[in-house]
Amino acid sequence: MAEDLNIITGSKEEQYQSLLPQIKALIEGETDLIANLANITAALKEQFSWLWVGFYLVKNEELVLGPFQGPVACTRIKKGRGVCGAAWQNKETLIVPDVTKFPGHIACSSLSKSEIVIPLIKDGEVFGVLDVDSMSLSDFDNVDKKYLENILTQITNK
Ligand code: SME
Repeated sequence: MAEDLNIITGSKEEQYQSLLPQIKALIEGETDLIANLANITAALKEQFSWLWVGFYLVKNEELVLGPFQGPVACTRIKKGRGVCGAAWQNKETLIVPDVTKFPGHIACSSLSKSEIVIPLIKDGEVFGVLDVDSMSLSDFDNVDKKYLENILTQITNK
């Protein structure tokens, strides 16, 4: 496996289409969850230069910080709290165009302006979430939802 990522310019859709097979190749021969989550965060951060890309994993009824790329972040989030806790509770992807308008948003960085959180679901249970933060308002839409959910199926179908 080549470990160099091929980073491209282009539309968001083109960037995801270039990245998807590379992420697939990175994780298909590896069974360790943390290793795979770590490489997914690195690949996404390198291609999109978002402020923060990372996973929180469910442990003892809390989300606990997992592999991430970006500034230091809060380590524990309770169910229903913040965007991550809400995506966990609702078992669905949440797109927040302006974090200041999301009731209960947890500000790990004052630089974060918009956010998307995608739950990792196996056998109907959420076992973690992918959280992505951007320094721009309204940076995430259904294109991100579609491709990030697709990337996470590489993990949840393993
Ligand atoms: N903003 C998130 C907390 C995690 S940090 O953004 C890394 C939330 O409201 O759940």
